[in-house]
Amino acid sequence: MAPKKVFSSYFLTEDAQKRLGSLGYDLDQSSADQLPRAEFLRRVKGVHGIICDSACQVDAETLDAAGDTLQVISTHSVGYNHVDLAEAHRRGIQTGHTPDVLTDAVADLALTLILMVLRRVVEAAAVIPTGQWCNQPTWMLGRQLRGKAVGIVGLGRIGEGVAQRLRGFGVSRILYSGRRPREEAALRVGAKFVSFDELVRQSDVVCICCSLNGSTYHLFTYDVFKLMKPTAVIINISRGGVIKQEDLVSALANKIIGGAGLDVMTPEPLPTDSHLLKYPNCVLLPHIGSATVEAHEAMGHLCIDNLQAGLEGKPLPHPIPQ
Ligand code: NDP
Ligand code: DGY
Repeated sequence: MAPKKVFSSYFLTEDAQKRLGSLGYDLDQSSADQLPRAEFLRRVKGVHGIICDSACQVDAETLDAAGDTLQVISTHSVGYNHVDLAEAHRRGIQTGHTPDVLTDAVADLALTLILMVLRRVVEAAAVIPTGQWCNQPTWMLGRQLRGKAVGIVGLGRIGEGVAQRLRGFGVSRILYSGRRPREEAALRVGAKFVSFDELVRQSDVVCICCSLNGSTYHLFTYDVFKLMKPTAVIINISRGGVIKQEDLVSALANKIIGGAGLDVMTPEPLPTDSHLLKYPNCVLLPHIGSATVEAHEAMGHLCIDNLQAGLEGKPLPHPIPQ
């Protein structure tokens, strides 16, 4: 029997390649920084499994291009807004993702962003090479996290990880919003369920930790930013699409919020002429939430566990919830 074909949208670790090799699969993988869409569609033709990342749209067009050999889509990410689940399900294709193993990495990065924005870290560091270092005691004052109210939009795995870490910083309150209360998680971290409006009005730091879905797309608009305290900062480690980005630019331009810290934005990579780059109180990171050696390795294992199960026609160990 001919070996099963697998296409990966990114270059796999040596470990992962060895594992796929020992399973006897025929692997094609992209080494391009940005895989052109047309090339992706060409290379998935006739494959049995697709390994993808969150930058790679796996939609009906992809499934058509792959054809009816396709058995499994395994994404090297916990987020799955780039996969058309309904279409995959309709065609009997299994879908898997990599939850839990990146939670610590992403929650750490959320705290990093919060502190970078509150303490003006990027702005301050940029001064050194300019020689504008000032010795006035009132220069470059930031704000402390202690005593602040923090609102978490989406108390899922990562939201809970952020809340756990916040407790060590002595915040005054942890609020959270979502489609329903998450009572067990809330109890573990001492968080209070409030409405979305209440959360944005009361928080000094708003941290977006939800998934991107129909209910969260463009959740943050100019009208929402207007509800925030003028000193409050917005942090986004979720997906760029949760914020209507031009409205965030207007909110920063009109100083109606205190600052922003984003690991995710629209589009990615962010064009170098983006207006977001104009504001010193807006800290931008290139989607590195899960980018640690530890998380990446563990995600790689889960990703191949899913792929292997799918190719063997077994239930996936980490299926994407339908
Ligand atoms: P979970 O599924 O555990 O959490 C997602 C949370 O989103 C749930 O608590 C869900 O709560 C909440 N949610 C969904 N809709 C809404 C809504 N309308 N309002 C508020 N909350 C909502 O996923 P993870 O915590 O593991 O990951 C969360 C997201 O983080 C991923 O989907 C991904 O997009 C992003 N991510 C980003 C990374 C990065 O590199 N920056 C790395 C990893 C993940 P409920 O259903 O109760 O409303
Ligand atoms: C995820 O796991 O969803 C991250 O965004 C990595 O792409």
